Amino acid sequence: MIYLDNAATSWPKPPAVIQAVADFIKRGCANPGRSAHAMARMADDAVMHTREILAGFFNISNPLRIVFMPNTTYALNAAIHGIINPGDHVVTTMMEHNSVLRPLSTLEKAGTIRLDFIEPDRFGRITIQSIKKAVTKSTSVFCMTLSSNVTGAVMPVAEAGRHCRANGVLFLVDSAQGAGAIPVDVENMCIDILAFSGHKGLLGLQGAGGLYVRDNVAVRPIVQGGTGSFSDSLEQPDMLPDALESGTLNVPGIVGLGKGVQYIIDTGISAIFLKKQRLLRMLMEGIDKESNITVYSPPPESNSGILAFNIADMDSSEVAYILDKKFGICVRSGLHCAPLAHRSLGTRDSGIVRISPGFFNDENEIDLTVKAIQGIARGTYR
Ligand code: ALA
Repeated sequence: MIYLDNAATSWPKPPAVIQAVADFIKRGCANPGRSAHAMARMADDAVMHTREILAGFFNISNPLRIVFMPNTTYALNAAIHGIINPGDHVVTTMMEHNSVLRPLSTLEKAGTIRLDFIEPDRFGRITIQSIKKAVTKSTSVFCMTLSSNVTGAVMPVAEAGRHCRANGVLFLVDSAQGAGAIPVDVENMCIDILAFSGHKGLLGLQGAGGLYVRDNVAVRPIVQGGTGSFSDSLEQPDMLPDALESGTLNVPGIVGLGKGVQYIIDTGISAIFLKKQRLLRMLMEGIDKESNITVYSPPPESNSGILAFNIADMDSSEVAYILDKKFGICVRSGLHCAPLAHRSLGTRDSGIVRISPGFFNDENEIDLTVKAIQGIARGTYR
C-alpha cells in the first residue's frame, strides 16, 4: 500500500509518538488537573510538557494560552462563536474548509454578521492585495487558512496578519493544513487566534488539536463544565486554559502530539518542507506531459504538499477508485469539505483527485504513482 493522503491525516507516525503513547497508557492514564495523587500529577506534567513544546514551536510566549480540544473543527467553532458579536463585519476566503464556512454562514443567515469572501486565483491562491481591499478598519474579524486543503496553496499569512494588526482587526488562522511544513510564528505573523490540528502535519494522533489565544483576546466558552479548578463555583473560570478546556482531556493524544512536534523540531521543518517539495515536483513533472490532465495546485515552492488534479472528464472518485483497487495507492477524491473552493476552481461536479505525500514517503512510491496516473490518463493500465 502507498499512503498519499497525508492532508487528511498523516501516516505513518514517528516511532517516538507510538512509543510515548503506549508508555503513557502503560505507566498510568490518570485524569490531569483533578486528583492530587502521583499518577494525576504525572498526567498534569505530560499535558504541560506538550503545551511547552507547542509554545516553542509556534513562538507562543505563554504556554497557558494554548487550549487542547478534540480537533481543528471544534477549535474553529469555539473561536468563531466565542469572539463574534452581533453586527460584526467578518471577512474570510473562498478557500476555507467547512469548519469555518458553516459556522460563519450560520451566523450570517441568522443576521448576526455581515460576511464577505475573497476570491482565489486558478490555483486557489489568495493575494495580499485582495485581502487589503476586503479587510478594512470596519472589519472585526478576518479568518483565513494557512494553506488550502484542496490545492495546497500557501496563503500570505504574515502580510495578512500585519495588515489586520495595523487596522485593529482580529486575525484568526486555521493551520490544520500546512502546520508542520510551513513555519508558523504567531508573533511575527500577528496571529491573534490559531487553530491547530494534532493529527496532520504535526504527526500526532486524531482527537488532540487545539487553539492558541493571544493575551488580552477574550474567547467566550461555548462549552462549560468540569475544569478541575474553582469547583465550588457555578461559573466557568475565566482564565486560560481552563475557560476553554472543560471535560477530561485526551491525554494519550496530547502526549503523542508533543512527541510529533518534537520530531519536527529535531528533524527541522525546512527539511520536511524540502522533502515534500521534492516529492511534489516529481509528481508534477511526471504528469506534466499528459495533455488530458488538469492541475489545480500551485508550484511546489508555494504549496504545502498537495497535488490536486483531474483526468479529462473522468469523475475524481473513479480515478481514486482505480488508484486504490488496481495500484494500492491511497488518495482522496470528491469535494474536500471546501465547497466554495470547488466553485471557484470549477470542480463542483467532478470533485478533485488529491495526492498529499508526507515526509515518510519515498521517491520509489512517487515513481509508481506517476506511472499509475499515466496509465489511467492514457487508458493503458491493467
Ligand atoms: N480536512 C481534512 C481533509 O482535507 C480531513 O481531508
